[in-house]
Amino acid sequence: MKPKLLVARPIFQSVVDALSTHFEVTSNQVDAAWTPDSWKLAISQHDAALTTGSDPINGNVLGASPRLKIAANMAVGFNNFDVPAMTALGVIASNTPDVLTETTADFGFALLMATARRLTESEHYLRAGHWKQWRYDMFAGAEVHGSTLGILGMGRIGQGIARRGAHGFGMKVIYHNRSQLNSVTEAECKARFVDKETLLKAADHLVLVLPYSAESHHTIGAAEIAKMKPTATLINIARGGIVDDAALAVALEKKQIAAAGLDVFEGEPALNPALLKVPNVVLTPHIASSTIQTRMAMAKLAADNLIEFFAKGQALTPLNQVTVPSK
Ligand code: GLV
Repeated sequence: MKPKLLVARPIFQSVVDALSTHFEVTSNQVDAAWTPDSWKLAISQHDAALTTGSDPINGNVLGASPRLKIAANMAVGFNNFDVPAMTALGVIASNTPDVLTETTADFGFALLMATARRLTESEHYLRAGHWKQWRYDMFAGAEVHGSTLGILGMGRIGQGIARRGAHGFGMKVIYHNRSQLNSVTEAECKARFVDKETLLKAADHLVLVLPYSAESHHTIGAAEIAKMKPTATLINIARGGIVDDAALAVALEKKQIAAAGLDVFEGEPALNPALLKVPNVVLTPHIASSTIQTRMAMAKLAADNLIEFFAKGQALTPLNQVTVPSK
């Protein structure tokens, strides 16, 4: 008998077909969020799950899912998983690192440029028929080349953004991270480690790429924004909740900083309505890793984690080691 696998959200049919040779697959085709009860019920009937960052695996879900052995997240971030609870109950967690690094760094830089140079705001103006004349200061934005790029969270994606800024745009790169990078990586990224206070004060463009956890909740709030330059831009491609979106909307409205670019939101897909009212923010629906090639690589890696685990007892990119006897 094949193990039962729940694919939590619509993904590439070719990947579902490949999984079907190893699993009895239930592939959700409904492009809407699960309710907590429907999610709990669906997952409780499966041995494995291919999840996305919106599908929680926490104590509550685990309590209802005694047969679950592995959840493979199709995302590098895994704050939807309670990994310690999974480990305690003998459930393997895996994610999809590396395959999305460069694509996500591309997007981080694209969002930085769109925000600094006011791309969406000026396009809305044009589409609305307001463009009548050339004006010397029309949608004057912030300089990107040669400016100071600040990066908070200097993992693989942060390093990709640093390399783009330093080598492509001659930016001066400063960063803050839980630990300082080794000197070879720092030299490669042309990046200098600074404390958080210096980062906030000195960055012309501050990009957030740190993982979300209880400790990183509201890392950027009113107090931190108050330390930034009034000409600065703030880019969040990390996770909703790292920025206090309500405080940011107030700061943007008061022009305490020049602009923000947000790909992730507290409580997404719902948005703080105040963000929709301020013009100086570029908003995108959590698409930083979204190219077909990268999403395919993520889907395949998540699928391979499941296949390897059931074939060899070991996931390819696990987030935990399970020591309790296998179920
Ligand atoms: C996307 O946000 C991811 O974590 O892969």
